[in-house]
Amino acid sequence: MISAHLTIDPHFVVGPINRRLFGSFVEHLGRCVYDGIYEPGHPDADEHGFRRDVIELVRELGVSTIRYPGGNFVSGYRWEDGVGPRDERPRRLDLAWHSTETNQVGLDEFALWLDKVGSELMYAVNLGTRGVQEALDVLEYANIRSGTELSDQRVANGVEEPYDIRMWCLGNEMDGPWQLGHGTPREYGRLAVKTARAMRQVDPSLELVVCGSSSAQMPLFGEWERVVLEETYDEVDYISCHAYYEPVGGDYGSFLASAVNMDRFIESVVATADHVKAIRGSEKTIDISFDEWNVWYHSRYAEVDRITDVNEWPVAPRLLEDSYSVVDAVVFGNLLISLIRHADRVTAASLAQLVNVIAPIMTEPGGPAWRQTTFFPFALTSRLARGVTLELKLDCPSYTTERHGEASVVDAVATHDDSTGATAVFLVNRSLDEEVELVIDTSILGDVSIGSAQSLHDDDMHAANTLDAPDRVRLRPNDSARLADGELHITLPPVSWTAVTLG
Ligand code: AHR
Repeated sequence: MISAHLTIDPHFVVGPINRRLFGSFVEHLGRCVYDGIYEPGHPDADEHGFRRDVIELVRELGVSTIRYPGGNFVSGYRWEDGVGPRDERPRRLDLAWHSTETNQVGLDEFALWLDKVGSELMYAVNLGTRGVQEALDVLEYANIRSGTELSDQRVANGVEEPYDIRMWCLGNEMDGPWQLGHGTPREYGRLAVKTARAMRQVDPSLELVVCGSSSAQMPLFGEWERVVLEETYDEVDYISCHAYYEPVGGDYGSFLASAVNMDRFIESVVATADHVKAIRGSEKTIDISFDEWNVWYHSRYAEVDRITDVNEWPVAPRLLEDSYSVVDAVVFGNLLISLIRHADRVTAASLAQLVNVIAPIMTEPGGPAWRQTTFFPFALTSRLARGVTLELKLDCPSYTTERHGEASVVDAVATHDDSTGATAVFLVNRSLDEEVELVIDTSILGDVSIGSAQSLHDDDMHAANTLDAPDRVRLRPNDSARLADGELHITLPPVSWTAVTLG
């Protein structure tokens, strides 16, 4: 048994939690859109072809902003292919995923679906094969009321009101050699700043996200951010971070400490952005949009899923359909802890992705939809993490990992909502075999009671929810939680994620 101690004090605030931290991502990739959110032949499809069961699950998940339409896909995408009469829309090669894009879902359909799930649109423009003009065109189509060719086209397509999209991504992962149009940081920075300036001539109040590195392991990491921000600093609001984690060679100790890597990643990008701020003597601060994060068995994609045959361009193939286990969900919940811990600078984030593709929600064509293990920490955190992030004092033993150095056995973050008086604590026990007896000093909170205490844990850390056993893994009450003399005592099982609320 490991002992740990945590002190919470609502006076020590990191920063407000922006609801956009609980965003997600829908890409035209595999079965995310087609046979995912959209399946007109499904018995539960609505009049627009959207699956009602998926809409219900997305609402339950509690996602705020949804990034669309890619991802790698966007760097070859012609947005205008996806608007207007459906039977006139072209079928195109999607080079990013070696698939056929039918364009049966485009901006208008996706925006309609967003209304149904109650989320905000975050739109990515193509800076891979396209540039300033096409970004202006889609902005005109989406955000101008009427009276110009493209805005009138939207109205003619049945959408009277402009979408007023606030957040725009200036391309995707432009540092990656796999990306169509990938270039040097200087080349991308120039294109991004020209695009940003032009878009701001339409609407100076847009919130613009410039591409940071595709991961902290990229060869130009740090340098890429510096150069890109030197070019774009005055014109953008966010720099993006992307990170995916998977266990390597059965090293679960390192895998469970993935959030240590995410913490460092965020802090390095903040340091780089602030370095550029200092050099420029700027008053403005650039925030992070962590607009792709998840557990992703990326090596499986490279070895099993990837399509390369020049004659094979399937529609909606099964790609990146990772099945998530309990240990994956614990790491995932810990990544959310890392994002919330940095709420002062990470003010937007997108779980990549939403349905079928490295997703918390899975569907079977003509069949059911179900929650993966990762669904639970996301949904509960999105519901409970309100108000501000608190600074914590955590005393806990650490262990040595091969990939991330020393890692604390327990990781934690706490949030406090002044308007309701509610405090929420999110915890992971990274130990593979030992329980942690955690004592939380809650004395400063006064006379509180436990609202709920729930854990995600299973004696088999590889247990997962599948088509045949969709409810195998779920959250369970953690009955060990008890309050005594200004302290909360709780036992955290090995490889577990826990959320406790105090009111
Ligand atoms: O989310 C899957 C892919 O991962 C995205 O298309 C790309 O941006 C990233 O490399």
